[in-house]
Amino acid sequence: MKFITVDSYEKLSRMTANMICAEVISKPNAVLGLATGSSPLGTYAKMIEYNKNGDVDFSEVTSVNLDEYVGLDGSNDQSYRYFMDTNLFSQINIDPKKTFVPNGCAEDLAKEGENYDNFIKELGGIDIQLLGIGLDGHIGFNEPDDVFIKETHEVALDPSTIEANARFFEKEEDVPRTAITMGMMSIMQAKKVVLIANGKNKKEIVEKAVYGPITPQVPASILQLHPDVTVIYSEN
Ligand code: F6R
Repeated sequence: MKFITVDSYEKLSRMTANMICAEVISKPNAVLGLATGSSPLGTYAKMIEYNKNGDVDFSEVTSVNLDEYVGLDGSNDQSYRYFMDTNLFSQINIDPKKTFVPNGCAEDLAKEGENYDNFIKELGGIDIQLLGIGLDGHIGFNEPDDVFIKETHEVALDPSTIEANARFFEKEEDVPRTAITMGMMSIMQAKKVVLIANGKNKKEIVEKAVYGPITPQVPASILQLHPDVTVIYSEN
């Protein structure tokens, strides 16, 4: 595991975008595993800039996102599908038909999870997976638990996650209580992983994930077992 500390969010974002774009340049039909939340916004802004400059072409790329709130469809501006369309997909030359986010409105979420995992397998797995990290150590929405869950699954969000995500909603009651998330299998089978975190409040959990014991109580700690992980942290 490489642990890189940088002194600004701008540097973190540039470095991360460079890693993702390098992957696309060397493999134009790369499969990108993408995340939502505030951490990747700077990375996506850089990817948009590189695409507009003509430095990187996303036309053959496929993307698979980590997670979605249960009950929100893509027309809801709080859904992760809407977030991705707005903050990245509509601003680069990716084919919208090759962008995938788990369907939080599927009637049978267990089946949706199974289909999502099979689909990722059929794609040949993820070439590079971008991750943020929650204050409780979650990646995707794999919350602290007694076990690591392998498959894409429905999950009850931790109260601390609901509180953290309330900043994006009008009222805390509006934050969905459940989500569907990629499980640890597809994440751990990604060829490369880059985990980004910024802000003083993330320092303790990032250090726990990188240096602490490997435990499902700190879901991101499983990444210590992955052969190619880069963690990029900025206090600012
Ligand atoms: C979102 C996701 C989450 C976030 C995490 C950090 O797709 O998978 O694990 O990465 O909650 O969120 P931010 O970046 O908003 O602090």
